[in-house]
Amino acid sequence: MKDMLLYEGKAKQVYKAKNKPGQLVLSYKNDATAFNGEKKETFHGKGRLNNEISSLVFPMLHKHGIQTHFMERLNETEQLVYQTEIIPLEVVVRNLATGSIIKRLGMKEKTVFSPPLTELFYKDDDLGDPLINDEHALNLSAVTLSELKEIKATALEINKVLSSLFESINITLVDFKLEFGRMADGRIVLADEISPDTCRLWDRTTQEKLDKDVFRQGTGELIEVYGEILQRLQSVT
Ligand code: TMP
Ligand code: ASP
Repeated sequence: MKDMLLYEGKAKQVYKAKNKPGQLVLSYKNDATAFNGEKKETFHGKGRLNNEISSLVFPMLHKHGIQTHFMERLNETEQLVYQTEIIPLEVVVRNLATGSIIKRLGMKEKTVFSPPLTELFYKDDDLGDPLINDEHALNLSAVTLSELKEIKATALEINKVLSSLFESINITLVDFKLEFGRMADGRIVLADEISPDTCRLWDRTTQEKLDKDVFRQGTGELIEVYGEILQRLQSVT
């Protein structure tokens, strides 16, 4: 199924798909990292959980007309996607204030953003993924102003779809990070993954954190909470 390794990131490996030009195999790893790779641990089963979760979420987005790179889940830890050129922007959408925005701007924890807030970060490990504005983004990535507007509008649309999906399983989608890529035909589509690595997910009843913050903050069992997310998603998808 897979050919040459093209790229290895902190949480996934990217392979060329065998005999399928223009397609890639994403292989989800068991590694978790935080604070730009400073904290690192391996969790048996994490790759499977994130692959399965992302493979449920992306088709849900397709149903709502969102274009993505996702094609199909291949096995426990791998999925087939269209090859894209990743745009070096991390697009964060926030519904409630927590995480870096609290430290950066001194906002009160759980302040509601209505409408939801979008932020752009420059995807560059050496620089520590700094926060940037739209004009920086236009200078740092090969997107036009109208494409950037479309990316942000799509991110907010995805927020609507995912917020109601998670609400249906008694979870608040607090915030999340998206990445977009350019297809061979020039279209920009959602790429990367959507998983508890890239979202903050809080149980609506208990406020329990069901995402990577349990690892970042050392407050819970990563495999247990990711498993809980998968189980709840499987009950509605
Ligand atoms: P932040 O509050 O640390 O800026 O994180 C915002 C959201 O982005 C949160 O859901 C976690 C996610 N995120 C990533 O997916 N990758 C990252 O490298 C970081 C820093 C955050
Ligand atoms: N993924 C990032 C890293 O390893 C940070 C994070 O998700 O908090 O550094």
